[in-house]
Amino acid sequence: MSEDGWEKSASAWVAHMSEHGDFGRRYVLDPVMLPLALARTPNRALDVGCGEGRFCRMLAAHGVEMVGVDPTAGLLAHARQRDPTGQYVEARGESLPFEDNAFDLIVSYLSLIDIADASASIAEMSRVLKPGGALLIANLNGFNTAGAETGWRRGVLGEKTYFIRSTTICASAASGLNGAASAL
Ligand SMILES: C[S@@+](CC[C@H](N)C(=O)[O-])C[C@H]1O[C@@H](n2cnc3c(N)ncnc32)[C@H](O)[C@@H]1O
Repeated sequence: MSEDGWEKSASAWVAHMSEHGDFGRRYVLDPVMLPLALARTPNRALDVGCGEGRFCRMLAAHGVEMVGVDPTAGLLAHARQRDPTGQYVEARGESLPFEDNAFDLIVSYLSLIDIADASASIAEMSRVLKPGGALLIANLNGFNTAGAETGWRRGVLGEKTYFIRSTTICASAASGLNGAASAL
């Protein structure tokens, strides 16, 4: 279903993430995202672009009924393997297979950057969100890289990261950081 490279890179992605996530997730985003999500005391939440389901499992550990949705079958297979009783649905964010007002929290954790029609997906998130519910989005932007010249740079941990002016990172030579973490 996913023809954007995610299927081919699913195994490598899972190996890179581990159960703790990469540096940016574990030390930068999780400490913000988890408390913000739990502050809403959600009963039922949806993670759009859940990947291999790490954040679903984190919220489920706090008693939240989680549903993860992602178009990449290889990532969902890993999510189901890690969490056999979890609910993981193969679908795109632009067309969510859920009724209106179905969730009281919707999470998009570094997934909007990968959703081809982000506007359509946000409209869908809004549709399936209960009135008064919360939409929690972590996304990347170009602020970090916009002023950078094209070329290699050292990141916060001394890793080599390649910047392309006007877009974003294309490659990183770091072992503990990927493009997402470097761009935070
Ligand atoms: C950078 S990963 C983030 C995964 C997970 N949220 C995390 O933080 O580890 C982006 C995810 O978006 C998913 N994705 C790609 N196109 C999508 C779409 N149209 N709708 C929903 N998710 C999509 C990919 O399969 C991948 O799992």
